[in-house]
Amino acid sequence: MSNSSEDNIIIRFVTENDKEGWQRLWKSYQKFYKVSFSNDLDDFNFNRFLDSNIKMWTAVAVERSSGKNIGMINFFSHVTTWDFKDKVYVNDLYVDVGSRAKVTGVKLIEFVYGEIDKLGTPSVYWCTDESNYRAQLLYTKIGYKAPKIMYKRKGY
Ligand SMILES: CC(C)(COP(=O)(O)OP(=O)(O)OC[C@H]1O[C@@H](n2cnc3c(N)ncnc32)[C@H](O)[C@@H]1OP(=O)(O)O)[C@@H](O)C(=O)NCCC(=O)NCCS
Repeated sequence: MSNSSEDNIIIRFVTENDKEGWQRLWKSYQKFYKVSFSNDLDDFNFNRFLDSNIKMWTAVAVERSSGKNIGMINFFSHVTTWDFKDKVYVNDLYVDVGSRAKVTGVKLIEFVYGEIDKLGTPSVYWCTDESNYRAQLLYTKIGYKAPKIMYKRKGY
């Protein structure tokens, strides 16, 4: 699958130079979810992405023509009692409003698939809101809907 808009996008892990671009996307993602985290948490997260000792990463979609970061995917690896290998969780996915419906979301998830395959931990999962139909349209293309319901501790 390839067309001119897709060819204009590259997906890659962040470098130190991506802090501003990533943070702008992260803030937009927070607005989407009607939450607001501190800049300190942004710094904490970004430093963890760059720390090779921590299995938490972010990748950005970069528009070749402008060099602008237009999408991000944050993910991490964790141990599980169900396997010898870690499992990967996609924590956050965001594409700029003006750049949507051009398969950038698909490419960000496929990037994660490729990277975790290389790590030998190919199992990955994620959640979305029941009401997020737009995201679900994408997810049913590149994954399957698991028969699980999420619960949380009250107050958290
Ligand atoms: C969900 C989100 C990441 C999708 O990003 P995106 O780059 O627009 O997604 P894609 O273009 O890769 O979507 C691919 C598929 O979704 C569907 N789709 C794309 N645009 C659509 C539209 N306008 N209406 C309905 N379905 C659409 C299509 O099935 C498409 O596949 P196709 O092009 O092969 O037909 C983006 O809408 C977003 O950032 N939303 C706000 C944050 C969010 O909801 N994040 C996910 C939280 S779990």
